[in-house]
Amino acid sequence: MKFPTDFYFGGATAAFQTEGAVKEGNKGEVLWEPFLKKQGRFDPEPACDFYHRYPEDLKLSGDFGLNSIRISIAWTRIFPTGSGQPEQAGVDYYHNMFAECRKNGIEPFVTLHHFDTPEALHQTGDWLNEENITKFVDYAKFCFQEFSEINYWITINEPTSMAVQQYTTGTFPPGEKYNFHKTFQAEHNLNLAHARVVNEFRKLQISGQIGVVHALQTVYPFDSTKKGDMHAAKLQDVLDNRLFLDGTLGGEYSQETLSLMNEILAANDQAKISITDSEMVELKQASDQLDFVGVNYYFSKYMKEYHGISETIHNGTGKKGSSISRLQGIGESGVPDGIEMTDWDWPINPQGLYDQLERIHTNYPKVQDIYITENGLGLKEEKPAENEILDDSKRIDYIKIHLQEVLRAIENGINVKGYFVWSLQDMFSWTNGYSKRYGLFFVDFDTQKRYPKKSAYWFKELTETKELSK
Ligand code: BG6
Repeated sequence: MKFPTDFYFGGATAAFQTEGAVKEGNKGEVLWEPFLKKQGRFDPEPACDFYHRYPEDLKLSGDFGLNSIRISIAWTRIFPTGSGQPEQAGVDYYHNMFAECRKNGIEPFVTLHHFDTPEALHQTGDWLNEENITKFVDYAKFCFQEFSEINYWITINEPTSMAVQQYTTGTFPPGEKYNFHKTFQAEHNLNLAHARVVNEFRKLQISGQIGVVHALQTVYPFDSTKKGDMHAAKLQDVLDNRLFLDGTLGGEYSQETLSLMNEILAANDQAKISITDSEMVELKQASDQLDFVGVNYYFSKYMKEYHGISETIHNGTGKKGSSISRLQGIGESGVPDGIEMTDWDWPINPQGLYDQLERIHTNYPKVQDIYITENGLGLKEEKPAENEILDDSKRIDYIKIHLQEVLRAIENGINVKGYFVWSLQDMFSWTNGYSKRYGLFFVDFDTQKRYPKKSAYWFKELTETKELSK
């Protein structure tokens, strides 16, 4: 079977991970800058200098057959402190860059928020402060009206990753751990922020489509014959996926979702979160008007029953087997025999992608169109010798087995309309620095020279034949 002729094949990027130039154009600081400085792990500057090199990168994308790109607007290039007067340099930059996309035959899918909250708003409580939601909605409205050349808008990238990593695992700023109350409150508030933006988009009668992007980690019981493992999988699923799927695609939290969430909070002696009836009306309204959902899928989780205290260790170095995830009142992650792991301890399971697509199609039928907005494999890679092509066959194999699942889904009537590989070119990883590379194009971070990898050539062939090579 082939991919449809109008299928989008693209590369995914994010402003803070690619642009660099953090001090140019009067750009404001984002929450990561003081956080990374304090940790001293790596410098987010110059990233891959996309701010200056986008003409070259977009030309490369076009030359390699890509017809689309996922890109995000840095809120702090438009409003340096999150609100106030728009910064013309930022506005001009994005108009120019979007024009360059068109010049190269590339459709930009534009995300309004990709992990880069203005530091000024992070200081005042981030997504836990409702005033910041209002500022986000104002910023979104400005973008909708200013950038009328955009056909596909994405409200928020991976709200789950943000909330969980900010307040449960502590790997995102402010680095708080095991605060499930704040995690779930941030999750609900992110649903609300998303909903208010969608509702404004419709009120303003903006042409084009609007969606949201979720990181979905398919959660299975480690041993499906054990009741305790089955329940642990359900609890982890609520934290990682379900509150968002219910909130943004369903427009209501099911009784089971609420009771699993409250079970986690009670097991941690933490207070229930605040959800009002009028907020639920807003979520419902937005879910009725949503055009598409983007799925970011990398790995699955296998949960065991666990009754101890929380303990998590993040593998941020690529040393296999160095991570731990045990959450009080939820469960412990394990790896069943036969499941291959990445160097960063992510279990590879393409079936997990299919299962999520089917779940959305079956359980959340209001949203018909699905895009795979991120999928790919991080590897440690060295610069290829002159006249040589970096052999990243492992990445090709990873992408291929996941695309097979996408084809299977399409065959079974699930409307997947595009696939964006993470990532277009190498960039830094938020919690792993520059040594975890995902790109179709290798970036020498000293010279900023780009080198197409074997996967770029393979992807080009795919865009031409629309078929997975044997
Ligand atoms: C997604 C994000 O979570 O996964 C990207 O949207 C991110 O920004 C990507 O880089 C890969 O994750 P990581 O942790 O390997 O960089």
